[in-house]
Amino acid sequence: MWRGDKVELTAVQREDLLKYVAWLNDWSVSQFLAPGIPMPLNIEDETEWFENRRKSKENFVFGIRTHAGQLIGNCGLHNVDLKNRTATFGIFIGDKNFWNQGYGADATRTLLRFAFEQLGLNRVQLWVYDFNPRAQRAYEKCGFKRVGVRRQGVFRDGTFHDEILMDILRAEWDALARSAR
Ligand SMILES: CC(C)(COP(=O)(O)OP(=O)(O)OC[C@H]1O[C@@H](n2cnc3c(N)ncnc32)[C@H](O)[C@@H]1OP(=O)(O)O)[C@@H](O)C(=O)NCCC(=O)NCCS
Repeated sequence: MWRGDKVELTAVQREDLLKYVAWLNDWSVSQFLAPGIPMPLNIEDETEWFENRRKSKENFVFGIRTHAGQLIGNCGLHNVDLKNRTATFGIFIGDKNFWNQGYGADATRTLLRFAFEQLGLNRVQLWVYDFNPRAQRAYEKCGFKRVGVRRQGVFRDGTFHDEILMDILRAEWDALARSAR
């Protein structure tokens, strides 16, 4: 339904959840994700997440699939606030064979199109850790700008790290879309 150059954003199906459990139990993936994920995660935890998200009006969550239909990750808009027209973006490509090939940036752009052109949002923000330069680069490619830092906001592997706040405004998205034409 939401088709990019390399990916499609689709509904998350119940049968996808086992893959998510495997990916989220892989520390090389989940070290970059927000605290709160119980480690290790089991299928009951993930099913609870799925049911909560399905009922929630503040979250829009999609499976990321290749055009061949292979599930490679997940992305979504969280804390969607339709009064102030803002939301917080999150993403992971769980299948590491697909890292660094533009799939993450394409999924991000596709979700931004949904956020701005369908939900009518004005601003989308995200948090990224200082030790995740790949994600920062992927977001910059999509037009996100670094706008703040939550100093030492996260504790990972024995050390405190900064959390970087990035955002993009609807007007900036429109300007990028115009220049791409
Ligand atoms: C972050 C993530 C979504 C990005 O998706 P992706 O498909 O790997 O990213 P893309 O290929 O679109 O872009 C990555 C860019 O970072 C660059 N990059 C990779 N490693 C880098 C590094 N160590 N330093 C700087 N840039 C780096 C790549 O070269 C590429 O830039 P380019 O296209 O200019 O060459 C994906 O890697 C992922 O899910 N990682 C694990 C979970 C995660 O970090 N989630 C985000 C939490 S905020």
